[in-house]
Amino acid sequence: MYVLLAAACGGGPDEPVGTADMPGFEPASIPPPARTWSDAGRVVEAPVVDAAVSAPDAVSDATEEPLPPLHDAYEGPTWLSETGLYTEIVSDTLAEGVREYRPQGELWTDGADKRRFLWLPPGATIDTGDMDQWVLPIGTKLWKEFSRDGLRIETRLLEKHVDGTWLMVAFLWRADGSDAAAAPLGVVDAMGTEHDVPDEETCRQCHDGRRDRVLGVGALQLAHDGDGMTLRSLITEGRLSQAPQTMPALPGDGETQAALRYLHANCGHCHNPTRTRAEREISVYFWQEVDALGQLEDTVTYRSLVQDKPSPLWIDAVVARMRDRGGLQQMPPVGTEHVDEEGVAVVSALMELLRTDRPDPPSTATSGPCPGTEAVFEIFERAACRNAFCHGAGTGELSFRTPEELHDSLVGVAAIGEGCDSLGLKRVAPGDPQHSLLLIKLQPGPPCGKIMPPAMSLTDAEIRTVEDWIVSCQ
Ligand code: HEC
Ligand code: HEC
Repeated sequence: MYVLLAAACGGGPDEPVGTADMPGFEPASIPPPARTWSDAGRVVEAPVVDAAVSAPDAVSDATEEPLPPLHDAYEGPTWLSETGLYTEIVSDTLAEGVREYRPQGELWTDGADKRRFLWLPPGATIDTGDMDQWVLPIGTKLWKEFSRDGLRIETRLLEKHVDGTWLMVAFLWRADGSDAAAAPLGVVDAMGTEHDVPDEETCRQCHDGRRDRVLGVGALQLAHDGDGMTLRSLITEGRLSQAPQTMPALPGDGETQAALRYLHANCGHCHNPTRTRAEREISVYFWQEVDALGQLEDTVTYRSLVQDKPSPLWIDAVVARMRDRGGLQQMPPVGTEHVDEEGVAVVSALMELLRTDRPDPPSTATSGPCPGTEAVFEIFERAACRNAFCHGAGTGELSFRTPEELHDSLVGVAAIGEGCDSLGLKRVAPGDPQHSLLLIKLQPGPPCGKIMPPAMSLTDAEIRTVEDWIVSCQ
């Protein structure tokens, strides 16, 4: 039981506005009055904790805690206890119909322990017409609870609105476990730990990568025989619009499966072709598709890392980027501050296997110079690479006001950009387009750095002109 004192939030006109309206109101159980935050334009009292279930000193400790700030546009629930997860939050009693589950592949969040819950509206089914992207019924709610070293820090909520959009918000736990307060703006170093509670914008960086936003509830992730809700239990209960023809199973031996599972859970939500801007930014795919699991060679990961690539640069970049923390190359780019050593070991084993199928092509390098730079210069001029904000001003320590300058700042010069420097590449390795970062970065999803030019893509013909120029070097 808790009390909200605010016209701008809570459940609407029928919601009781004062403690006197509350059934079972006990003056003695009210903690010292309200912490407030004025910038959000509302006053919210702390949850009222029943004295019978929570020690009085714990209550007074809790009231010292500042509440995470809200913002004016936030329209979701203010407290976790309002979201339908529990019938009684302090005793951790789940509401009827709330199901605990665990996906096969789990997101690494610097070693946090997690619990996950799903509630489906009674009688509603999940639309599994596309087995790789389930569509959940309106009203669905999912929660994910995070603890570090036994301390419960936050519980995240995804709730599907009538218009098909999703509320995404985290709730920061009170130290006494009486409730958790909405933190739509996120919290840095929550509860004195180094765990950051993400703001909504950060949730979306990951969750918007799939059509219906939910990432761990799907055919592949739930195809296991562990505890809780699984693919099998959903089928038995008639909760899927159609059941998969066969139980999805990852190919390869145990090690390969573990690596594919890890990459699916930690990387696949961004690394798939349907993500916004994927056509420019991403060329390596990790979201496994249930119809492409026959053998390793059939998987999207094998095809995009080995089959479709001219060299093993992308294979090497996978582990290099998993090892990066705090740099421009960090993968995943959000949600973690520490390298997952176990995850790196699992993925490295698969990358070594893939590397045997995609060895480094022999160098065809010559010593330069490269004739006909004018044609390349013109392409870059058209693509506005030379304007005042780009390389015309020497950005990236690359500048070219004339074709001669362009030639001299590229040909035979080592790449220096973060992440690209360690690959031992030249900007232009004369005669050797496969080892020339310039050509690699003109195409979607380069292994390091960002695709160039940033705002538009060169045409295939233009890219071929650049390649021919590199090949023609003497
Ligand atoms: C770094 C990427 C990332 C960020 C940031 C992130 N999530 Fe997730 N989330 C995932 C992945 C991947 C899963 C599924 C795997 C798992 O549960 O471990 C998941 C699972 C969940 C689940 C369980 C339902 C599901 O989609 O499987 C909820 C609820 C959830 N996240 C809410 C949130 C909210 C709310 C935020 C922001 C406050 C957030 N997440 C931020 C990646 C992210
Ligand atoms: C939140 C979204 C997101 C997640 C999660 C994510 N990536 Fe990325 N990744 C990107 C974006 C965007 C790019 C392109 C821009 C860049 O290079 O920084 C990229 C680029 C890459 C590249 C260069 C090749 C390519 O496809 O563009 C590799 C390799 C890579 N990521 C590996 C990983 C691995 C491994 C994981 C999981 C451990 C991962 N990423 C998780 C967003 C993500």
